[in-house]
Amino acid sequence: MDLKQKILDRRAEIGIVGLGYVGLPLAMEFVRAGFMVHGIDLNAERVKCINQGVSHVLDVPSATLQSAVESGKFKAYAGYSIVSDVDCVIICVPTPLRHTKDPDMSHIVSATDNISKRLHKNMLIVLQSTTYPGTTDEVLVPEFKADHLQIGRDLFVAFSPERVDPGNPKFNTKNTPKIVGGVTPRCTEMAKLLYEQAIDHVIAVSSTATAEMVKLLENTFRAVNIGLVNEIAIICDKLGVSVWEVIQAAASKPFGFMPFYPGPGLGGHCIPIDPLYLSWKLKAFNYNARFIELASDVNTHMPEYCVQRIHQILNRHKKCVNGSRILVLGVAYKRDISDVRESPALDIIKLLQVEGAQVDYADPYVPELDMEGKTMRAAPATAEEIPSYDLIAVVTDHGSFDYEMIKAKAQLIFDTRNAYRTADEKIFKL
Ligand SMILES: NC(=O)c1ccc[n+]([C@@H]2O[C@H](COP(=O)([O-])OP(=O)(O)OC[C@H]3O[C@@H](n4cnc5c(N)ncnc54)[C@H](O)[C@@H]3O)[C@@H](O)[C@H]2O)c1
Repeated sequence: MDLKQKILDRRAEIGIVGLGYVGLPLAMEFVRAGFMVHGIDLNAERVKCINQGVSHVLDVPSATLQSAVESGKFKAYAGYSIVSDVDCVIICVPTPLRHTKDPDMSHIVSATDNISKRLHKNMLIVLQSTTYPGTTDEVLVPEFKADHLQIGRDLFVAFSPERVDPGNPKFNTKNTPKIVGGVTPRCTEMAKLLYEQAIDHVIAVSSTATAEMVKLLENTFRAVNIGLVNEIAIICDKLGVSVWEVIQAAASKPFGFMPFYPGPGLGGHCIPIDPLYLSWKLKAFNYNARFIELASDVNTHMPEYCVQRIHQILNRHKKCVNGSRILVLGVAYKRDISDVRESPALDIIKLLQVEGAQVDYADPYVPELDMEGKTMRAAPATAEEIPSYDLIAVVTDHGSFDYEMIKAKAQLIFDTRNAYRTADEKIFKL
């Protein structure tokens, strides 16, 4: 039977490589659509937990995972041998940066290498990891070249960017439109058909590089606008104007303005990293992606700016950072999630510690924090503990914090997220 019919009959077996924030929710969506899904992840401990129905991803409740495992429609493996038996493979491995801020392609290269050893006729392979335009054509396709398999006839290769917004209560894997671009028109058609079985709306574009670029435009758009509004926050502070009030008033314009909000810096696996994949690629064309570099510069300096503001606030109250007790409220990179990757809170804690502050943090989603090998444990943000801190820095505005109690009990508050909407003499805003 050809692959198209197998997909339509939902008899195609799907392998998902990388069972993280992207791969695990996607696997659940295909299980829900009636497919047999095999998860592949090199983290053996993670694989063991997943097969026991224990989820590490906030958007996948353990009950959902458990029923998928018990239904026999989902199983995870710590190796690639299952790839020989699957019809479709979707690659969702990480794409971080190296210390030098260059793309770290090692996970994509390793996944590609492992899959290429198990290629067979009538197979669809889709790359879903965020990466620079050209990756599918330049890194995957040469590895998938085999005498007996012609891409577009026997083997189908495509790129489809991931757009998931972890913790978003409205938009999830299923109802967020999906972009696909194949190496050939038949590759695009096959990838579109597969995703259409599980995702509400799938949009085809003309090439893999276009699909790769779509993702980088989306994230560069956010990074640049956040960079702009972070600089506006610094400007407003110098002018003695509230940036929050300015944005709220500007957002009343019904056209031509879209509000972005300042904060302590960028975090997560996407916005701080993805645009740098694009600027890196452009260096090969002797082109300097100026907006990306500038936004990255402004955004990465926000933790330093926040610490500078904390210095000023304490100074005005005849205190100094050295020796002060400071509680960082929220360390996840955004509200109501547990992900601390690239979180600006980590930089703020580190900078304050270097200046001699005694820093604790409180975060209901993050019981422990690894600070370069040293473990910090979350402190209780209770009415008894709050008054003992010289300053509370609101870095991540989780919905579950008792902001009124904290306001009543705190000595001083530095609010980087506009968690406090009303003015108060002990509250200082970004
Ligand atoms: N997290 C997000 O919100 C988000 C949103 C859009 C796009 N993305 C992109 O999706 C991709 C995956 O991100 P994520 O957040 O799911 O990462 P993650 O770190 O949560 O999960 C990746 C998983 O892949 C596994 N892995 C690493 N190398 C492997 C290999 N060679 N073979 C098999 N498994 C391997 C890891 O053990 C891990 O479990 C990245 O390119 C990321 O930029 C992420």
